[in-house]
Amino acid sequence: MKKILITGGCGYIGSHTCIALLEAGYDVVVIDNLINSRKKSLEAIETVTGKSLTFYQGDIRDKELLENIFKQEQIEAVIHFAGLKAVGESVEIPLEYYQNNVAGTLTLLEVMRQYNCKKIIFSSSATVYGDPEINPIPEDAKLSVTNPYGRTKLMLENILRDLYHSDQTWKITLLRYFNPIGAHQSGLLGESPQDIPNNLLPYITQVAIGQLPYIRVFGQDYPTKDGTGVRDYIHVMDLATGHLAALEHLENQQSLEVYNLGTGQGYSVLELIQMMSEVVGHPIPYKVLERRPGDIATCFANATKAEQELGWKAQFDIKDMCRDSWRWQQNYPKGF
Ligand code: NAD
Ligand code: WQD
Repeated sequence: MKKILITGGCGYIGSHTCIALLEAGYDVVVIDNLINSRKKSLEAIETVTGKSLTFYQGDIRDKELLENIFKQEQIEAVIHFAGLKAVGESVEIPLEYYQNNVAGTLTLLEVMRQYNCKKIIFSSSATVYGDPEINPIPEDAKLSVTNPYGRTKLMLENILRDLYHSDQTWKITLLRYFNPIGAHQSGLLGESPQDIPNNLLPYITQVAIGQLPYIRVFGQDYPTKDGTGVRDYIHVMDLATGHLAALEHLENQQSLEVYNLGTGQGYSVLELIQMMSEVVGHPIPYKVLERRPGDIATCFANATKAEQELGWKAQFDIKDMCRDSWRWQQNYPKGF
């Protein structure tokens, strides 16, 4: 049985990916320092799958701990989710972002090399496309970033490219996620923001359930279908199976590969609010405010490369995403 190390496996995308891997028959080892998650997500994974995983609580910057993990476990490949991800916060505390995301990944890569484990799938982001010149965005579009968080992702993509060029026995895949939303269909697992959410979807569900008074729609003067921002929302379980497909492809991969994980479809803020209102069965209040600094008008993926090369395509539509997010929100109004 192949054993996969999942860094950040207690978090939103990592925990859903653990489910997909366990269900596909992989052994799973998780390292997480719980800075943005709870151990409860592991219990939910085990309840959903009926399988157990091995958990190490700790930081990927703790070299000794990582060495112990690689000594104890026969790790075949790493899926690397661990990191900080809030754009606004990254502007406030850039050093923490570079330290955690960049230094943490360097430590991880050094220990992997030390133990001759040279297969890694890295969580990148559509944020590396900056304000895209074309939509849908292909993988070879121009890259640019405007905030420290995005810069950590672009730096890490470049570091991984340099590593691959120095030693082509590495097998490296960069996955650029678009906007992950939704939750596992069981309603036992979902996104669990610790404070007031920054992202749109958890904000909408918290308004829908009455925890926040209204949605703040950031700008209605963009050059889009209704003036509000357009994004490529993707179900978190589709992302999870995207990782599985990438993992299975890694073995035969001849070079470093980059894949967009998106649906290829763009929805506006108002369309998402409308869809969620239909799912919850009542209107959800919103107010149009000023644009949020740093936001772009439109961003959606050209997802054909993943389909052609990984045989992966998003299966869930926007209504499924809203329905599953809402089920999770109702079951766990305060998150884990
Ligand atoms: P998350 O915060 O829910 O999960 C990240 C996990 O990593 C958390 O459990 C956290 O406790 C852990 N962690 C953070 N720093 C760590 C460290 N130094 N050592 C050990 N564990 C650590 O975030 P997520 O939404 O699941 O995102 C996972 C990855 O995907 C991140 O790298 C993020 O940048 C990337 N990503 C996320 C999105 C998104 O919108 N959610 C979009 C694109 C890319
Ligand atoms: C979506 C749309 C907002 C909140 C961010 C990161 C990106 C990636 C995914 C990690 C935009 C509007 C939002 C609100 C609103 N993360 N909005 N009211 O900004 O596309 O991407 O998360 O890699 O790097 O930047 O996602 O959910 O914040 O915003 O009107 O309260 O909703 O203006 O048009 P975004 P989002």
